[in-house]
Amino acid sequence: MRVLVTGGAGYVGSHLVALLVEQGATIVVLDDLRQGHRAAVPGVRLVEASIGSAEGLALLADGPWDAVFHFAALSLVGESVREPLRYLVENAGAGLRLIEACVVNRIPRFVLSSTANLFGEPERVPIDEDARIAPSSPYGESKLMLERALFWAQGRGLHSACLRYFNAAGADPDGRLGEDHRPETHLIPLVIDAALGRRGALSIFGDDYATPDGTCVRDYIHVTDLAHAHLCALRQVEGRSVTYNLGNGQGHSVLEVVAAVERVLCRPVPRMVEPRRPGDPAILVASSDRIRQETGWTPRLSALDDIVRTAAAWRVTHPDGYPTLA
Ligand code: UFG
Repeated sequence: MRVLVTGGAGYVGSHLVALLVEQGATIVVLDDLRQGHRAAVPGVRLVEASIGSAEGLALLADGPWDAVFHFAALSLVGESVREPLRYLVENAGAGLRLIEACVVNRIPRFVLSSTANLFGEPERVPIDEDARIAPSSPYGESKLMLERALFWAQGRGLHSACLRYFNAAGADPDGRLGEDHRPETHLIPLVIDAALGRRGALSIFGDDYATPDGTCVRDYIHVTDLAHAHLCALRQVEGRSVTYNLGNGQGHSVLEVVAAVERVLCRPVPRMVEPRRPGDPAILVASSDRIRQETGWTPRLSALDDIVRTAAAWRVTHPDGYPTLA
């Protein structure tokens, strides 16, 4: 199998690339390294260019490709509300050109990193694939545009898997890869850093939500389980397209995450309650029944303590994240 992975040097993309390497695939990573890290894809051919660039698009003609996995995107919900057109142009605009290039070059399969942000404030949980779509941010909207483009691209022979991630978390259990966003905004690495004394008190964004302890509830899915789901989903894309919600199906509150980090690291987490973060739904929990039933996928690292343990191991051994390679 010969595959192109856009954004393959990023957090989720690099965990998929590691699995593809284990399976003997021929891989080319297309990543402009704005968020990705060369050190996250050791031994893999990396083309340092953005997806919308002439160099990036030319790569699609350099086939044959069995599939394109598309991770490269801006992905901060709050930032997208502040800079909506940047998100729409960079994520949707460049993504549409990428999809068009796949059609032109007769690439048969496409796997899209989509998001639970499509569901906005859900009417019911757990959230299945048929839930009402109402993106709560330009980030979610940009992913929806790509999902719609992929729907129509079927008529031109491009079939796809749209994978709506809930909260990707944790790190490679073998310690090779981890989460290195700069700046970091995600809950689990921030809680770990607060426990390790690498930053001040954790800000808890709101404790007056309609949840059992008042803090937001999210569905944390281990990044290696998420990577496996891409391979399971790809096998379904044979002359048809699929859409799957990807989570563990269990919700954990912000305070439950704090308690898990305190258990795993045996250290207290200094914290303070701050106002709600705009755009945060109270509860986002996935129903992943469809992918489980259709593909047999099942998360193996679903316990919150396992997710936190792998994330903490990475942060302890990589206090400055990935090394910068020339
Ligand atoms: N939170 C805090 N303090 C922090 C950081 C986060 O209390 O310092 C809270 C947030 O308010 C939220 C929860 O922790 O309730 C998780 O926040 P993250 O920023 O880690 O993740 P989000 O749920 O906001 O977003 C993530 C991805 C999105 C994706 C979404 C889908 O970053 O790209 O999951 O569920 F769309």
